[in-house]
Amino acid sequence: MMKQEELIFRLPTREDAEEVSAYRKEFLNADSSMDGAGPLRRFADPFEWLREIENYRNPETVPAGKVQASQFICVRERDNRIVGMLQVRHYFNDYLEKYAGHIGYSVRPSERRKGYAKWMLRQGLDFCRSIGLARVLISCEVNNEASRRTILANGGVYESTVYEPEEQIDLQRYWIDLSTPAAEEKRS
Ligand SMILES: CC(C)(COP(=O)(O)OP(=O)(O)OC[C@H]1O[C@@H](n2cnc3c(N)ncnc32)[C@H](O)[C@@H]1OP(=O)(O)O)[C@@H](O)C(=O)NCCC(=O)NCCS
Repeated sequence: MMKQEELIFRLPTREDAEEVSAYRKEFLNADSSMDGAGPLRRFADPFEWLREIENYRNPETVPAGKVQASQFICVRERDNRIVGMLQVRHYFNDYLEKYAGHIGYSVRPSERRKGYAKWMLRQGLDFCRSIGLARVLISCEVNNEASRRTILANGGVYESTVYEPEEQIDLQRYWIDLSTPAAEEKRS
């Protein structure tokens, strides 16, 4: 668990179920992309989602052909509100290597532009370091200025742009080197 000012970065538990539902609803209502939340869009029942992400976290229960992944939530301490989610994929399959990268994340629409994504990604990178990753790939849609700036603020270096045929979008690929200390950044 990491903590700074009012934010906590940690694994979700059953006690978070209600907040997980609220998080999901807000994204559905806003028609916003629920990145970094694993299969949350498909799971109306938060307990099912919790079971599913636990299966992905444990190497012994990762579904066949899938990649081990750790799901984190970012909780604001004063009101226990989940303000963001971030998922780390521990290694690559073909799709992750080409397109989706190691990390996905989102901040709930009503809590954006407060510096939460920048802080949350930094915690995600610390976790990546702790599992032995030397560098991390993160990709974002070409016109996703908020995500691009989040990546750049955390030391991302642009590599290339690729066309993702399933979603039919252009994705920019950025690498973050974890062998050097994380870039200093402040929450605005
Ligand atoms: C991308 C996302 C996570 C950013 O969350 P956030 O908490 O609002 O971001 P922050 O407040 O930490 O801001 C990060 C940077 O983006 C900039 N930014 C934030 N929203 C922006 C916007 N709508 N337009 C332009 N820049 C924006 C901030 O100014 C900051 O840049 P700076 O440090 O250069 O000033 C959020 O918009 C989101 O959840 N989007 C939908 C899901 C998504 O796109 N995930 C990323 C997939 S790769």
